[in-house]
Amino acid sequence: MGYADIFARAKSDPESFWLEAAEGIDWVAPPSKALFAENAPLYEWFADGTLNSCWNAVDRHVAAGHGDRLAIIHDSPLTGTTQKITYAQLQARVASLAGALKAKGVEKGDRVIIYMPMVPEALEAMLACARLGAIHSVVFGGFAANELAVRIDDCTPKCIIAASCGLEPGRVVHYKPLLDGALAIAKHSPEFCVIFQREQEVAGLEAGRDVDWHAFQHGVAPADCVPVEGNHPAYILYTSGTTGQPKGVIRHTGGHLVALNWSMRNLYDMNPGEVFWAASDVGWVVGHSYICYAPLTFGCTTIVFEGKPVGTPDAGTFWRVIQDHKVKSLFTAPTAFRAIKRDDPGGDLVGEYDLSSLESLFLAGERADPDTIIWAQDKLGVPVIDHWWQTETGWAIAGNPLGIDKLPVKIGSPSVAMPGYDVQILDEAGHPMAPGTLGAIAIKLPLPPGTLPNLWQAEARFRKSYLSHFPGYYETGDAGMIDEDGYLYIMARTDDVINVAGHRLSTGAMEEVLASHPDVAECAVIGVADSLKGQLPLGFLCLNKGAKIAPDQVVKECVKLVRDRIGPVAAFKLAVVVDRLPKTRSGKILRATMVKIADGEDFKMPATIDDPAILGEIRTALAGLGYPAKD
Ligand code: COA
Ligand code: AMP
Repeated sequence: MGYADIFARAKSDPESFWLEAAEGIDWVAPPSKALFAENAPLYEWFADGTLNSCWNAVDRHVAAGHGDRLAIIHDSPLTGTTQKITYAQLQARVASLAGALKAKGVEKGDRVIIYMPMVPEALEAMLACARLGAIHSVVFGGFAANELAVRIDDCTPKCIIAASCGLEPGRVVHYKPLLDGALAIAKHSPEFCVIFQREQEVAGLEAGRDVDWHAFQHGVAPADCVPVEGNHPAYILYTSGTTGQPKGVIRHTGGHLVALNWSMRNLYDMNPGEVFWAASDVGWVVGHSYICYAPLTFGCTTIVFEGKPVGTPDAGTFWRVIQDHKVKSLFTAPTAFRAIKRDDPGGDLVGEYDLSSLESLFLAGERADPDTIIWAQDKLGVPVIDHWWQTETGWAIAGNPLGIDKLPVKIGSPSVAMPGYDVQILDEAGHPMAPGTLGAIAIKLPLPPGTLPNLWQAEARFRKSYLSHFPGYYETGDAGMIDEDGYLYIMARTDDVINVAGHRLSTGAMEEVLASHPDVAECAVIGVADSLKGQLPLGFLCLNKGAKIAPDQVVKECVKLVRDRIGPVAAFKLAVVVDRLPKTRSGKILRATMVKIADGEDFKMPATIDDPAILGEIRTALAGLGYPAKD
């Protein structure tokens, strides 16, 4: 059956389509039906089945006789080490960790925050939680203590599992002091913290609160898998919204595994036993889905890569990893390829490695620019597949399903909707628009299995953020169009979210931080185009009358403030002091117009602008920062 037939079948008979897909995973008790629509517009999938994620990702492969197969390869150019873990070893390690957590009282439904770098123990911590039915929430290492504290207070974990440190090129990231700092700010206190000591930095443990990863496992009985319901939350993953309060995206266990398992064969064209590499981080959704749960559930070998595409040690690292571990499919963000291309424009390093195992490259997380796609196609000689998804959906909304059909690639488009996604372009009033017309991208409810059913303890926010603007639809927050052939084009966000090096960030959250500076009266943050990172945040600051310190000093302090409060990942380094911000007569800041000026694009003078002269001032301020950029 081809893509069109499979898509049509999922649309006309979702029950049988998804129940059949559900046969790809192991159930303790199979679900009585696929879709639970009783609470529409809130939907659930496979709600009354019972299963365990860890069983599916680990134990079942051992039970099927594949215990000697590699589950995880940790490749760390930052430490110069490689570690290989078989499924049987993974089972023993995860059961032991789960046993120790259980002995300290962690049980089904408890939340556990995981704050770890790219080490296999991060996946083991996730899987140990899954084994017990505990709900993990992984926090990315590039966030500051304050962001960690916000997440601690929101999901109130019984326990936090952290590493002593992470590694970035040229510096050690001191996780333990960040954790201690977060706990000092947070209102909620976990009962205990488990610290995985890395040899690069051994952290001091706080007696009575912290336990050592190895020591606390000593002498405990390994834990068995605890069956959970299909609608039991497997995890909470926080993502940026329009404010400083991140949204806690929930993933239900049953739909999560069914969709990911389906995607491995049909979208990524993988077979069990082959090597899949998602060069991302466990702190992001790509890491949850395609470093941990999907490749393991499907019985592949997954790569945990602790390094960067460039500088660790050079732009040939990705090719070395592909060669050494016989990677069949690589998944990363376009920004990684832009970084490689910048360091090795002719792709000379590609030729130094044997890339014969590689069959495809998947890109996601931000817009894939044509130059990057063409460069990758040219240098690697494999299909380069752009696919579009979000933290909320957990797997691709649109892509080119290599395991079904190799559809023609249209550069600039992430191809077609995946089965189960009824993607439509709507006008402001919610009417479907004709092919080729730009509008808001919405998905007709219900969303397919694996997507978010709700936000953690924030149902009203879930409804308001995603369901209220276009009743009967999920609002993606992206704008774009669909062409005559059903190919999607993703053009821009419709909200304050920007995408910096494939990392999703909220300009609203940055504005909240800037506004807290005592000399800042008013501010605006926009995303400006950047040839490496896609976008970069840029702040405009209006100072209080009588501010005592020099504007340059305020800028410096504001840059530091964002780094300290949100974290280095915000990459907030550009800010400028201006007298006034351009606004509409009703007082709305004209951010989109400022973006156009910064990017050197034509724009129409907004009819509602209060004082057009301010745009000239903004243009001058941007010119002082080198915008519009030359390349
Ligand atoms: N822990 C601590 N700090 C981190 C971090 C982590 N896990 N990840 C990033 N940071 C820091 C970086 O060190 C950098 O700090 P600096 O300001 O002191 O230099 C800052 O956060 C910004 O990081 P980033 O925007 O990623 O820039 P970079 O220069 O370190 O790397 C790329 C640029 C393009 C090489 C890198 O972003 C990349 O490989 N991205 C593609 C892959 C990816 O992660 N995709 C995510 C979703 S698929
Ligand atoms: P995240 O939740 O971090 O995965 O970010 C999701 C957002 O990244 C989407 O809403 C898009 O704005 C953007 N995005 C992800 N993949 C793509 C893609 N293939 N093309 C264009 N934008 C993308």
